[in-house]
Amino acid sequence: MGRRALLLVTERDPLIAAATRARDNAYAPYSRFRVGAALRGEDGSIHAGCNVENASFGMTICAERAAIVRAVADGCRRFSALALVLDGDGTPCGACRQMLHEFAPTLPITIARPDGTVVRETTLDRLLPEPFSTFE
Ligand code: THU
Repeated sequence: MGRRALLLVTERDPLIAAATRARDNAYAPYSRFRVGAALRGEDGSIHAGCNVENASFGMTICAERAAIVRAVADGCRRFSALALVLDGDGTPCGACRQMLHEFAPTLPITIARPDGTVVRETTLDRLLPEPFSTFE
C-alpha cells in the first residue's frame, strides 16, 4: 500500500469514529433510525452532528445539516471530507446534498455502517449533479 493510501485511511478512520460517536447521541424516537455525520475541515478540525427529531416531524434536522451548522458556528466553512454512519445503504438526502454544496461542491463522502464497515466512497458532485447555485 502506498503512502498516499495510508494517509487517506488515517484521515478517514477518525472521521468515521467521530460520526459513530455522534450517531450514538442521535435523538430519533420516532423513526428509530439513527444517523451520525462528521465533517473534516481543511484545517484538520472535525465537526460532528446527529439527527434530531421532533414531535412535529417536519422540524427534524438530519445529521449532515447538524454537522454543517455546528462547523459554521465553530468558524469552519471549508471542508475536505464527510463521513456518514448509518445502517443500510443510505446516502445523504436531497436537502443535505444541497446544503453541503454551498460549502464543498466536490466533497469526498464515505458512508459506513455503525460497525465501521465502509459501504461506499463517493463525492458530492456525483450525488448532486445539478445543484442550485447563485455563484460561479
Ligand atoms: N436522516 C439523516 O439524518 N440524514 C439523511 O441524509 C437522511 C435521513 C434522518 C432523518 C430522520 O431523523 C431519520 O434519518 C429517518 O428519516
